[in-house]
Amino acid sequence: MRTFRDLLAWLENRGDLATVSRAVDPRHELTAVMRRMQAGANKGLLFKQVKGTDIPVATNLFGFRRAVAASLGLDEPSLLRSMVALEGRRMPVEHVATGPVHEVVKTDDVDVARDVPQVVFAEHDGGAYITAGVLIAPHPRTGVYNASWNRCQLVGDDKLRVRMMPPQHLGRYHAEAEALGQNLPCAIVIGAPPGLMMSAASKVPYEVDELEVAGAWQQSPLRVVRCRTIPVDVPADAEIVIEGEVVCGVREEEGPFGEFTDAYVPVMRNHVFRVKAITRRRDAIYHAILAGGTEDLNLVGVPIQTEIYKKVAQFVPRIRDIATPGYVFGCVIAIEKDNEDQPKNALLAAMAAYSWSKVVVVVDADVDPFDAADVLWAIQTRCTPETGIYVVPRIPSYTREDVRDIHRGKVGIDATVPLDKRALFARRRFPGEDAVRLEEYLDGR
Ligand SMILES: Cc1cc2nc3c(=O)[nH]c(=O)nc-3n(C[C@H](O)[C@H](O)[C@H](O)COP(=O)(O)O)c2cc1C
Repeated sequence: MRTFRDLLAWLENRGDLATVSRAVDPRHELTAVMRRMQAGANKGLLFKQVKGTDIPVATNLFGFRRAVAASLGLDEPSLLRSMVALEGRRMPVEHVATGPVHEVVKTDDVDVARDVPQVVFAEHDGGAYITAGVLIAPHPRTGVYNASWNRCQLVGDDKLRVRMMPPQHLGRYHAEAEALGQNLPCAIVIGAPPGLMMSAASKVPYEVDELEVAGAWQQSPLRVVRCRTIPVDVPADAEIVIEGEVVCGVREEEGPFGEFTDAYVPVMRNHVFRVKAITRRRDAIYHAILAGGTEDLNLVGVPIQTEIYKKVAQFVPRIRDIATPGYVFGCVIAIEKDNEDQPKNALLAAMAAYSWSKVVVVVDADVDPFDAADVLWAIQTRCTPETGIYVVPRIPSYTREDVRDIHRGKVGIDATVPLDKRALFARRRFPGEDAVRLEEYLDGR
């Protein structure tokens, strides 16, 4: 898939895109509907009529992990292995003179409180936010492109406030521009190509160009066009681009915001973005992501799973898959072990691969790491607490200052069956189960 629209079309063809024609209020109502969808069928949603704007709003496009895989042309069972294999095959971007994202160009009288859908998510959020914006900036000295997702508070007129603190790479780019006394030219891309959405969510090394990694993951060069008011290249096929600069030497109070942790981050002094232009497709579709919703957790989770996969694979040759339940603060690694050291090495490797990992569980390959009940079953039937639980004291997991004390220490749980007891733990199978079609057996209603 090369465009955001390809993803919408894929969902639609599978019957996985629900549309809403009724007018919906972007303040709370849209999110309330989305939440109900995520708790049920979890399909993608396209709100066709959103009050206060003529731009439709799409959301929950990555409600299922298989949508992440499909958007990159990959199969879910081998997703992590494939992503690792592809990551190194970086592709230079393809420059084009113009593209759909420039069908409408607005440089005068910009008002972000009017020209962008005003989606307000949680009860105490400090107003409307862009949550599905990929921020693209070239490094102030080297020109290497960074891409990352950053929430942006829609203040009004030409002003946004952005959460982008170092060590986040965009924050570091801005710090380097600031040291030179410069603003940082930056574009906010909404409705980005899937490869770029994935590279923006990933911890790509600081020196590596994330537009080239986007090409690697979508397995074709990213088509880019030069912005109209800033020296930044953006995807020619994006839905909407907000061109501007992150201002040098200015911080303002931003927040509160209901974060992916399911709690609020308080008001903090964050960066200020000045808009120079808004460009878009004539029939642009806006993308909104609920922090901590199924879509967000898949987008954030898959790159984390990939990082963990890379490290664990150094010790364990056969990894079935890796899940990151519990708001990506922990992981479950399903392996086929050859010796008793492998689960222990996997635990430590996973803790080191991703610093936020607080609880790491290793299970056998006959356990579904994505099924919480199955994982708990494995812990309760296969783990010896006295010898199979490892507490690593004092090592921090989540690093937010005001909750730091709670996130000191990590736990590793080896819930794999001892190799010499495998036969005793073989799971039951029920012949014919997979082939049964219930409707052929049940009497009519
Ligand atoms: C939908 C979404 C929203 C996000 N919002 C933020 C944010 O507001 N601030 C932030 O620091 N990271 C946010 N992240 C996480 C970063 O985008 C992610 O950590 C990324 O890898 C950082 O890029 P970097 O490695 O170039 O620093 C978000 C991720 C997603 C998927």
